[in-house]
Amino acid sequence: MSETTGVSIELEKVVKRYRGQDRPAVKELSIAIEAGETVAIVGPSGCGKTTTLKMINRLIEPTSGTVLIGGTDATAADADDLRQGIGYVVQAGGLFPHWTVERNVAAVPGLLGWDKERTRDRVTELLELVGLDPEQFRGRYPKEMSGGQQQRVGVARALAADPPVLLMDEPFGAVDPITRVRLQDQLLAIQEELHKTIVIVTHDVDEAIKLADRVLILSEGGQVEQYGTPEEILAAPANEFVEEFVGSGATLRHLSLTTVSDIPSAPVVLARPGDPSDEVAARARESGLNWVVVVDADDRPRAWPSVSEVLSKPVVSDYVDQRLPVAERTATLADALDVMLAASQGGVLVTQRGKVIGSLTIEQVANRIRERQALANPEQAADTYRAAP
Ligand SMILES: Nc1ncnc2c1ncn2[C@@H]1O[C@H](COP(=O)(O)OP(=O)(O)OP(=O)(O)O)[C@@H](O)[C@H]1O
Ligand SMILES: [Mg+2]
Repeated sequence: MSETTGVSIELEKVVKRYRGQDRPAVKELSIAIEAGETVAIVGPSGCGKTTTLKMINRLIEPTSGTVLIGGTDATAADADDLRQGIGYVVQAGGLFPHWTVERNVAAVPGLLGWDKERTRDRVTELLELVGLDPEQFRGRYPKEMSGGQQQRVGVARALAADPPVLLMDEPFGAVDPITRVRLQDQLLAIQEELHKTIVIVTHDVDEAIKLADRVLILSEGGQVEQYGTPEEILAAPANEFVEEFVGSGATLRHLSLTTVSDIPSAPVVLARPGDPSDEVAARARESGLNWVVVVDADDRPRAWPSVSEVLSKPVVSDYVDQRLPVAERTATLADALDVMLAASQGGVLVTQRGKVIGSLTIEQVANRIRERQALANPEQAADTYRAAP
């Protein structure tokens, strides 16, 4: 894994009031995006997604409020300098129609005065990164390519000067479902390698859940309805608006259809009240764990202390934690997530007929969601195709 190359983005009470409109398109939006994070913005048409995105790179000037990029005030920076540090991908690629792929991708390096050779090498590298054969495509014009290919060129162009921030406005909107999944997977692979800070606007909740570390759900006027990880949003929608927005999504249904036993649980170290603490701690460390599960004579869970808690007494204490997060292996993932969130824990103990058999973390559930979507979507996409007239 490489280092984070992205920078943080903070919007503080950002307002956009378009001339001649009584109501602001965005009223007092405040959000923080961490360096290297992918945030997806979703919400109904006209709620202010594009406006918000464009205020980050000042294609639209905020009426008031502050935008901080990498901790510095973007509203005070020179707008052209600012934009060179921010890749921007618009719907359908937004390529210059009379320029070849090579020239389109090299647009920003050209502005930055890179020499021919460096530019050419960079174009080659980027086309490879987005999965287009450089020799085949560099001389083509946008109209000689499919929509998905054009969008990939759009992504390559946005990445050309290696900007720490990438803004994408419905970048995969205009392509068929199969290509869309491929482009999403490519973006995930690129992000794994480059760790940019990415803000992506999408209409598709499943796309948001698949791609983003955090999802921002907006309603009219750029009102924040919820801002959280996909797991939080799926398991604990903040209100009816969010519920309605994500409720019909396939992912939620999927979570309710998958059980805890479908995910291999992680091993746990068991201890019984009265066991010598240093012996228990040694076993935990041997397994690379910094906690143990205290169980009764029938392996039923009693407590889930950390090694340091255990070591604070000479022997394992006989304490019963009433709020222990526990899920039977037959429980659905949706229920397991509920238990985690109710207990404010990042995991649950997995039991089989009441006996502890392992543990499951929220990350494992999240990975599972991603894997399943990668597997399931091409099929769904193929079905959509077949069903189409
Ligand atoms: N240049 C403009 N002048 C006046 N009003 C505008 C302008 N651009 C956008 N608006 C209004 O601001 C609001 C937010 O628009 P915005 O384009 O940010 O929405 P959006 O969430 O991106 O919608 P969509 O999902 O349809 O792309 C809308 O009510 C829109 O009509
Ligand atoms: Mg828009």
